[in-house]
Amino acid sequence: MTKKMAKLTLEDSNEIIELPIHQGTIGPDVVDVGGLTAKGLFTYDPGFVSTASCESAITYIDGDEGVLLHRGYPIEQLAEKSDFLETCYLLLNGELPDQAQKAKFENGIRYHTMVQEQLSDFFKGFPRNAHPMAIMVGVVGALSAFYHDSLDITNDEHRRIAAYRLIAKMPTIGAMCYKHAIGQPFMYPRNDFSFAENFLHMMFSTPCEEPKVNPILAKAMDTIFLLHADHEQNASTSTVRLAGSTGANPFACISSGIAALWGPAHGGANEAVLTMLDEIGNESRIEEFIRRAKDKNDPFRLMGFGHRVYKNFDPRAKVMRQICDEVLDDLGVENDPLFRIARRLEKIALEDDYFIERKLYPNVDFYSGIILKAIGIPTSMFTVIFAIGRTPGWISHWDEMISNPYRIGRPRQLYTGHARRDYPGK
Ligand code: CMC
Repeated sequence: MTKKMAKLTLEDSNEIIELPIHQGTIGPDVVDVGGLTAKGLFTYDPGFVSTASCESAITYIDGDEGVLLHRGYPIEQLAEKSDFLETCYLLLNGELPDQAQKAKFENGIRYHTMVQEQLSDFFKGFPRNAHPMAIMVGVVGALSAFYHDSLDITNDEHRRIAAYRLIAKMPTIGAMCYKHAIGQPFMYPRNDFSFAENFLHMMFSTPCEEPKVNPILAKAMDTIFLLHADHEQNASTSTVRLAGSTGANPFACISSGIAALWGPAHGGANEAVLTMLDEIGNESRIEEFIRRAKDKNDPFRLMGFGHRVYKNFDPRAKVMRQICDEVLDDLGVENDPLFRIARRLEKIALEDDYFIERKLYPNVDFYSGIILKAIGIPTSMFTVIFAIGRTPGWISHWDEMISNPYRIGRPRQLYTGHARRDYPGK
């Protein structure tokens, strides 16, 4: 794998340190700095801006070109031709399934959607106004208390069942969070529904009526899950890998990913977009908020704009924008004041020099927030939906790490505190 070498010279010594350069299939070369520790040196890279934490064959992103590939397939093609569960299979197994493999996988997921009845009792302990992500972190971690037959991380079959359970049960748990908040009975999943239909059913049906699921909204929901399925070494996936590197069980690892996703700079952004649109409240106030976003003395940022990796456009946002149009059109809500503010904000920001110069484009969360709002999903549930979608990505990365040689993740630091000093004597 190693062909080229980098040479590092230190100002205060004549030594030249040779560092191997690794080349991936595509993408920039990677300098292997692992040997520096032996020379008494560490690299310093807060925010991991220039650091590859692992080798991976799952997802490739070219932020400048707006490219996102899962196992080599462009996200636009997957969004158009595939569906969420097929994409889950692809992420987990490396190849698209044939028809029989697809049917078997879908069936496997379908028959793991129910949760242990006792798990429902957990919800009673949470206040009605608890944030659903707070419940998710707890309940998903607690799955490890119930499913002892999938905790041996060295056993391929245990890992496979844990993957099925997590993908299948996340929508059930997510919908239970919502039902708990509004005081309605939990709805059991139905085996005659697709993955996305089931989620909408568990969210919006009641035992009093036959369930009705709008196929356009179910398709939009499926695509939202698919577009969130993986995004290589983002904060939550890196958290899952780091937790997994200690040998922690898969449910605990995914729970740590959910916690990392919760923050407004990551998965919490779709919720923050709607909070911001509500705060703007009126089209006449958009300019004021744009001004605030540009003011360095004001911590306010336009939520749903910018991305750490995509500095041109986010290919997921392009697909999401199109679904956004379809959903708003189907529901006939395009003239709703909130959606008008969103459209106007998008237009103004795209034409503003500040945003153009910094390559700040609407990201996937800008549009997903709007679609979810239009579907009738409360804003507090938005990050839960991101978590449901991201679950196959988290598991695929965890499984990839566990299936290969790995070491515990343990970053180092640049220490700037006190040097050794003695405890003051009395
Ligand atoms: N509004 C106003 N200014 C911004 C914004 C924004 N949303 N985002 C970045 N900037 C400015 C920032 O102030 C800086 O300006 P300057 O160079 O003059 O100091 C410049 O753009 C670069 O910003 P940065 O903070 O260095 O960029 P980053 O790569 O560290 O941060 C980000 C990326 C996504 C955290 C950031 O753009 C942001 O906070 N956006 C809003 C939150 C959001 O929508 N997050 C969802 C990300 S997509 C979902 C996911 O993958 O999790």
